[in-house]
Amino acid sequence: MACRRRRWDLWAGAAAVVATVAVAAAPGTSGAQTAAQPDYHPSLGDLMTMAVQPRHIKLGQGGRARNWAYAAYEASELRNAFNRIARTIPTYRNSDLAAMVASNIKSPLDDLDAAIKARDGRRFDAAYVQVTHACNACHQGLGHPEVVIKVPEAAMYPDQSFGAPPTATARRASRR
Ligand code: HEC
Repeated sequence: MACRRRRWDLWAGAAAVVATVAVAAAPGTSGAQTAAQPDYHPSLGDLMTMAVQPRHIKLGQGGRARNWAYAAYEASELRNAFNRIARTIPTYRNSDLAAMVASNIKSPLDDLDAAIKARDGRRFDAAYVQVTHACNACHQGLGHPEVVIKVPEAAMYPDQSFGAPPTATARRASRR
């Protein structure tokens, strides 16, 4: 009996040590930082600014460079961003956001995908203009006609290349 209790004490002691180490190792538990930080809940305007607008610009730049692999990637990113936004904010001012995405921008995005698949530059340019119109149609439909999107006139993102990656270019050159 005495032996068993000693073993139990040993286990309890070990558990206490493990708990102490776990607390010490947990981030954000030191000193003044113990107050819980409330979660950040981005607004629709935040999500448009961080998840939609940059991708619209990058998609335009990839398409202008006729970089079809990248354009396909970024078109999918943009489409998925809309889907995630509609899941995060299902209702905006009494409107069903998923329905607004479907009725405004799904079909222009489908046309854009088709142009990318066909590797057709002129078709891409036309479809990109339609996608851009669709941005504005939704802004008007949801009471924000002051938010006007246009085909970007200038290049942005100086740290990213929108042409084909160097390896692919080199491979093409060596085939010539
Ligand atoms: C499903 C509807 C819908 C679609 C589609 C849509 N938007 Fe928006 N967008 C909104 C709404 C609503 C707001 C206003 C949100 C708010 O501030 O309350 C907004 C706001 C914005 C803003 C304003 C942010 C700011 O601070 O200036 C930008 C930029 C934007 N959208 C970009 C785009 C682009 C680019 C597209 C197309 C690729 C697009 N949006 C497509 C609904 C949409």
